[in-house]
Amino acid sequence: MKASEAQPNSHSPLAHLEEWEDFLKERYPDPASATAKPFQAIDANKQKEEFRNYEADARPTVREFYRQNHRHQTYEFAQAKRREFLSLNRRQMSIWEAMEYLNTLVDESDPDTDLSQLEHLLQTAEHIRADGQPRWFILAGMVHDLGKMLCLWGEPQWAVVGDTFPTGCRHSDKIVFPQFFADNLDSQNPRYQTDLGVYEEGCGLDQVQLSWGHDEYIYHVTKDYLPEEARYMLRYHSFYPWHREGEYHRLTNAHDRDMLLWVQKFNPYDLYTKSHAKPDVKALRPFYEDLIAEYFPAKLNW
Ligand SMILES: [Fe+2]
Ligand SMILES: [Fe+2]
Repeated sequence: MKASEAQPNSHSPLAHLEEWEDFLKERYPDPASATAKPFQAIDANKQKEEFRNYEADARPTVREFYRQNHRHQTYEFAQAKRREFLSLNRRQMSIWEAMEYLNTLVDESDPDTDLSQLEHLLQTAEHIRADGQPRWFILAGMVHDLGKMLCLWGEPQWAVVGDTFPTGCRHSDKIVFPQFFADNLDSQNPRYQTDLGVYEEGCGLDQVQLSWGHDEYIYHVTKDYLPEEARYMLRYHSFYPWHREGEYHRLTNAHDRDMLLWVQKFNPYDLYTKSHAKPDVKALRPFYEDLIAEYFPAKLNW
């Protein structure tokens, strides 16, 4: 049976984590590619129709993944996971060790690219480097998905990947598969069902508790060592309702709106740089070890 035909498994519906990102690529085609229509040219009705198609065409595994994610990612869950993981007392590792550790993640590899997790990260970083971006930007590309190691600590896929969204206030209907929020306990709590929910208007995203996953985790591991623009890239790279849909504006402050540009600048490297061309890990390692040493201590707390 091909991965695309696989039926969802209840604990880890996705055959591999990249199935989620492959779906995002279909939902958000590369605006720079010849086949994608410019955003402005799509009228509201048409956009709605296409949105429905993305859902209808989604693999059963991806659909089941979103069903679980939207059901279980409550305000309380996101808070509990922050308490559980953000004390960063699990182990000490260098960035390169963390990359090798993430590489032990055994799920079916992505048949579209056949790259390991480490190769994926290097591929993203190499595209950023080839575009002549600053060194901290290259480094952000290399570390941005290291938080996926949460899977190695027994966390289910729906608590590691998936487009993130604010908890504690009304769910935007621009989030993919919004109907699955009917099973989320927060949908029955009137306090969480207003536009602002538990937040104040313009409070800033730093005050907002997004659904839990690999973004928030890697942000906390690395935040003391990276420039602000890179911190935003890591923390919000999966926050598609904000950086691609323009939702939740009311929760942002002026600083978030300045930084949005950088999150958007990062997104194409995250989503559209996957290819079969395997990076030469051995040859690239010295460059990246130098770059890591420029910003990070020898060991970080994970
Ligand atoms: Fe990611
Ligand atoms: Fe990524």
